Amino acid sequence: MATKRSIIVTGGASGIGKACAELACERGWAVTLADRDPQGATVAETLRAAGGDVRFVETDVTSEDSVRALVRAALDACGQLHGAINSAGIVGSSKPIHEIDLAAWDRVHAVNMRGTFLCLKHEIAAMWDHRAGSVVCVSSAAAIKGLPWSSDYCGSKAGINGMVRSAAMDCAAQGIRVNALLPGPTITPLAMNSSNANPALAKVRIRPMERMAEPVEVARAAIWLVSDEASFVTGVSMPVDGGMVVA
Ligand SMILES: NC(=O)c1ccc[n+]([C@@H]2O[C@H](COP(=O)([O-])OP(=O)(O)OC[C@H]3O[C@@H](n4cnc5c(N)ncnc54)[C@H](O)[C@@H]3O)[C@@H](O)[C@H]2O)c1
Repeated sequence: MATKRSIIVTGGASGIGKACAELACERGWAVTLADRDPQGATVAETLRAAGGDVRFVETDVTSEDSVRALVRAALDACGQLHGAINSAGIVGSSKPIHEIDLAAWDRVHAVNMRGTFLCLKHEIAAMWDHRAGSVVCVSSAAAIKGLPWSSDYCGSKAGINGMVRSAAMDCAAQGIRVNALLPGPTITPLAMNSSNANPALAKVRIRPMERMAEPVEVARAAIWLVSDEASFVTGVSMPVDGGMVVA
């Protein structure tokens, strides 16, 4: 009997990560849902009540011990790791560059850049000997579009794109795909907080479709990219942004 597909979703307590976990369950995949927010336990419980094969592992992606324990928990529960969607992330300080505190810069890079690196490192290590697997790192359209008051966030997300391209080269011959997904404005707590703090950004972001995405619209693309349907796709930075980067 074929092994059930096993996937880690970080940032799974909320927004895009939560929508990814829901779609993965609909596909019958075994989901290890990770978040630093204990609310992830309630999300996992709800998905289990609907028939999903889901476990929650409280995880801080900035800590290597915590990420190592997350991957270990997924392997212990499911035997193998086939995929991962790394969606955990935070916004920047919403200030012009000359006013950004170093501590705020370090905070956003610790979660978005270092956290994504740690997840990629340990997920790929778990996939390596099986010579198969697929990882999607949730970056942002902000990685390739100039946005006001966002240089700490944009820098952290552009770093993810570069890291993903290089990791894709390291992993291609091993049968492991690594891609970045670049959402545009999506209706989640993160986007709502950043729009409130940075009204200039809110205006730029909704062009040209003049609306934000529902989390499920981004999650559908993430699920496609992590699945075998995208079997010849690696190293890309794929916008799912309602045309924001070309507007
Ligand atoms: N919403 C948007 O408009 C938008 C646009 C582009 C990119 N993104 C990216 O999408 C991803 C998901 O964001 P979202 O909009 O769903 O936001 P969200 O705030 O709804 O979800 C982010 C989740 O990440 C978790 N998280 C934060 N720091 C963590 C840490 N150190 N360890 C573990 N978990 C942590 C949070 O607890 C939260 O549950 C982020 O990487 C974000 O940068 C979002």
